[in-house]
Amino acid sequence: MIRDLNEDPLLRTSRRVAELTAQLEAAHRELEAFSYSVAHDLRAPLRHIDGFARMALEKSRGLDDALVKQLSVVVQAAGTMGRMIDGLLNLSRVGRAELQRRPVDMAGLVEKARSQLGPEAARPTLRWEIGALPAASGDPELLQLVWINLLSNALKYSSRHPQPEIQVGARTAGDGKAVFFVRDNGVGFDMHYGGKLFNVFQRLHRQDEFAGIGIGLAVVRRVIERHGGRVWAESKINGGATFYFSLGEEQATVPET
Ligand SMILES: Nc1ncnc2c1ncn2[C@@H]1O[C@H](COP(=O)(O)OP(=O)(O)O)[C@@H](O)[C@H]1O
Ligand SMILES: [Mg+2]
Repeated sequence: MIRDLNEDPLLRTSRRVAELTAQLEAAHRELEAFSYSVAHDLRAPLRHIDGFARMALEKSRGLDDALVKQLSVVVQAAGTMGRMIDGLLNLSRVGRAELQRRPVDMAGLVEKARSQLGPEAARPTLRWEIGALPAASGDPELLQLVWINLLSNALKYSSRHPQPEIQVGARTAGDGKAVFFVRDNGVGFDMHYGGKLFNVFQRLHRQDEFAGIGIGLAVVRRVIERHGGRVWAESKINGGATFYFSLGEEQATVPET
């Protein structure tokens, strides 16, 4: 008997899946483009708000103290909003960048990220402990963002400790894949909210405690997801925090030390 291929339920299902996948990808690209242009277009009106508030601020100095205070708040808020917009644009870039997978020297990336952290990272009271890191397969520029964000958080959230410690390392998980981690002995966070921290603009600490806009971990998650990997965190309030990540496929195992 000759079967009509169009009637083959398996074929029909797989065609439907392909169709839905294409629709989903198109919707995703559209959303990405939309958020990018919204963020980009917000910059111009924001520059006006900031510019005119600064002018008014200069004119009211010495004349009206209350007004000076209020206008300072406007300028400050415009600055925060500008950083948030830049953060969204960066996040969107990470989502749109083409993934260039190749062998990556993770130890080299960590050293480079460390050198970009500024003078805080070289404080004599801060102890760094960098373990052996296996090479990985991934996009070096995107993975660099992961290390910079995780290390700068470790630095920031341990900065109140009299003897801050940051530990970087890797271990082999049960499935043979390498799990990289960054650990600090800082203020930590409540694990109850642990799932939220990777969301855009989500912060668990107040601006006056630790400055930031809450985009770093969203960037980290997006980079790791684009590599087919996983990122998670463990922490205790005042007990430090550890951020772990693994990368999908072609992952080397941890070298013996
Ligand atoms: N090493 C850490 N220790 C404690 N809390 C952290 C750490 N890293 C991130 N967090 C929490 O996760 C939130 C989101 O981090 P992130 O996206 O990098 O934003 P930001 O650094 O601007 O606050 C932070 O506001 C903080 O509450
Ligand atoms: Mg951060």
